[in-house]
Amino acid sequence: MKLFVYGIREYDELPYFEQLARGYGLTFGYTTEYPSMENVHLAAGYPAISIITNRMDAALVDAFYGAGVRHIATRSVGTDHIDLDHAREIGMHVSHVNYPPETVADYAIMLILMSLRKITYILDRARLQDFSLQGKLGRDLCDCTVGVIGTGQIGRAVICHLAGCGCRLYAYDPYPDEELSEIVTYTDFETLLGTCDVITLHAPATKENFHLLDKDAFSIMRPGAVIVNTARGILIDTKALITALEDGRVGAAALDVLEDENGLYFLNRMGDCLANPQMALLRSFPNVILSPHTAFYTEKVVWVMAEQTVRCICDCVYGVDNPLVLF
Ligand code: COI
Repeated sequence: MKLFVYGIREYDELPYFEQLARGYGLTFGYTTEYPSMENVHLAAGYPAISIITNRMDAALVDAFYGAGVRHIATRSVGTDHIDLDHAREIGMHVSHVNYPPETVADYAIMLILMSLRKITYILDRARLQDFSLQGKLGRDLCDCTVGVIGTGQIGRAVICHLAGCGCRLYAYDPYPDEELSEIVTYTDFETLLGTCDVITLHAPATKENFHLLDKDAFSIMRPGAVIVNTARGILIDTKALITALEDGRVGAAALDVLEDENGLYFLNRMGDCLANPQMALLRSFPNVILSPHTAFYTEKVVWVMAEQTVRCICDCVYGVDNPLVLF
């Protein structure tokens, strides 16, 4: 079995792939570069490649097919970066991973608490020896109504964890999870927006969800609402969010993902002039937290990502059913 790993992180993923290679009898090659037209040739002789969240459009999928690749395994839960229709059409297998949802759920809850307690501002000021209390008054989570948009695995974990925190819980999902109805009130989208002090996004990046939170959505929110996004950047119209923050309609935002994060997140761009004015603006706001798509990043998840990737490739080769192999 052979696998070529793109975008490998030598400081954490490489030892895991080495361990897996021994266990599975796998031969693997790797590069720290993300896949592009310029480095497709590196995969020659490898029937499977592993990628992370870089874009894989039809042309790039074709180029890999041309180099003999027949399986693209993404080390992510989301597959929105791959042209799945095209891959299926040309007979390229695609698989993804499914790490425990608690990791991202914990991070979302951390961002909710950080925003409600203005912790970025408190720590920034404390570093300058401003230990006064002015401007640092927080809100209690147990007094808040929290709205969870999307109740798949991660949204569900957020709800289960928050159920012990004393806050009222609302949820919106076109496919409600009956089992959750005892601890959460399902409602329609507009009611959730107009009722909740905190709104946390856990929906997939589908066409239907593009700019789910847009100008209209922000206009019906409770003044001072807190927005948390650990899902995908395209769920929020960033321009409309900036206006809503300037107006005070949105009281705080904590974003682990951004619309134009490609080419920035997961790279060290220190010292570069970044062509992303929206990000610069958001970073200048005292009530905004930006983190570079790190909600998934724990020891356990990094191992699971590598392990499930190798297993998917094995299962595909040996014709073993695996729900993570999409086709
Ligand atoms: C996913 O698994 O879909 C994520 O968003 C994490 C990814 C950046 C590795």
